Amino acid sequence: MKVREAVLGDAEEISGFLQELAALGKRSLPSDAAYVGSHYIAHADNIRCSVVEDVDGALLGLQILKRASEGNAYGVTPGWGIIGTHVRPNAGRRGVGRALFAATLEAAQRARLVKIDATIGASNPEGLGYYEAIGFRTYKTSENSVSKCLELTA
Ligand SMILES: CC(C)(COP(=O)(O)OP(=O)(O)OC[C@H]1O[C@@H](n2cnc3c(N)ncnc32)[C@H](O)[C@@H]1OP(=O)(O)O)[C@@H](O)C(=O)NCCC(=O)NCCS
Repeated sequence: MKVREAVLGDAEEISGFLQELAALGKRSLPSDAAYVGSHYIAHADNIRCSVVEDVDGALLGLQILKRASEGNAYGVTPGWGIIGTHVRPNAGRRGVGRALFAATLEAAQRARLVKIDATIGASNPEGLGYYEAIGFRTYKTSENSVSKCLELTA
């Protein structure tokens, strides 16, 4: 599998697997291609938006790293990173998430981020397990969500 930067031409295909995640109850945000383009691939706060493709060029996953702006919708401290990850359901547990994070981590270090926030649904064991596995630790919880943080060293 290969990790590369996402381009707007990927929006339709990404939207397809986000809709699959939504149908499985693993996603509640919009999944249409316009949303993928504006909120993920080409968002003004983006530091890096990566996709993984398989040998045939099919997209298996997406990871977005943004810089938290003043008054961001997630309540994350301005200047921190905010990460989101979405892997095609039939490509789970094959290392797609780990491959994405290798590229994201490099971008975070280049951008001199100090902390990255990952906010996950409290009843999402795969999301919680994934972020824990790549080094994130819980720093905040609410009734419905768990926020984990990765501290970056210089
Ligand atoms: C969470 C998610 C991104 C993980 O992606 P992935 O490609 O399956 O992850 P990887 O195969 O790279 O796994 C890395 C590690 O994460 C953990 N992990 C992954 N899936 C897991 C699961 N279902 N249960 C528990 N831990 C899990 C494991 O420690 C795993 O390492 P291992 O396989 O060596 O034990 C993916 O399942 C997904 O997109 N889920 C739906 C959307 C979502 O929940 N996003 C994240 C929260 S917003």
